[in-house]
Amino acid sequence: MIKTEISVSILDCNFNDIQNEITKINNSSCDYIHVDIMDGKFVPNIAFDDETIKKIKLYSTKKLDYHLMVKNPKDYIIKCAKNNAEIISVHYEENDNVHNDLISIKNLGCKAGLAINPSTKITEVSKLFEYIDILLLMSVQPGKGGQNFLNSTFEKINDSKKLIDDMNYDVKIEIDGGIDNKVSRKLFDLGSNILVSGSYIIKNKNFNSAITSLRD
Ligand code: DX5
Ligand code: ZN
Repeated sequence: MIKTEISVSILDCNFNDIQNEITKINNSSCDYIHVDIMDGKFVPNIAFDDETIKKIKLYSTKKLDYHLMVKNPKDYIIKCAKNNAEIISVHYEENDNVHNDLISIKNLGCKAGLAINPSTKITEVSKLFEYIDILLLMSVQPGKGGQNFLNSTFEKINDSKKLIDDMNYDVKIEIDGGIDNKVSRKLFDLGSNILVSGSYIIKNKNFNSAITSLRD
């Protein structure tokens, strides 16, 4: 059986009390902190400033899983690598340089993730599978937390797994957006490797019980 890992998105946590929020995550059974970076161009919102990223690095004892929702990932990649990145994912969309970005992530010693929007076809990105460690399937439109999970993701996971297996690559599948304990079981069963969950965990006073409920 595949061990599915949990990555907690802190997009909607209380940034006035960031040390305490991250301590709660450190004390939980999750595997990563998912850090959503937004530039106000690829998506309308902006997150996070340099000071916040430094605090996340300082307080976290978990591995950091950076998700770049930005137009020009190059500079951000270097910044994330300097701030303890285990995984850095760049979007396929609106990026003519995605291949080079993936290579530079690997050269910086991090795991390279390719993120794709719900409307992007798997067959369109399979040519990049040889350069990636992680395929990040968005299960909501990128840009904000607290949205509803898109059921079309289930079929996309199946198609992705089949293609990855047929091509014989070692690529993990990460799912991001709208994940709660109602959909997590099916995502586990379909063979997802990493589940990102934000608002479902953050709105629960006891982070660890919410995380545990995703695994039940
Ligand atoms: C959406 C972000 C997600 C999001 C997850 O653009 O990439 O990581 O914050 O949060 P929930 O679980 O609330 O959808
Ligand atoms: Zn994300």
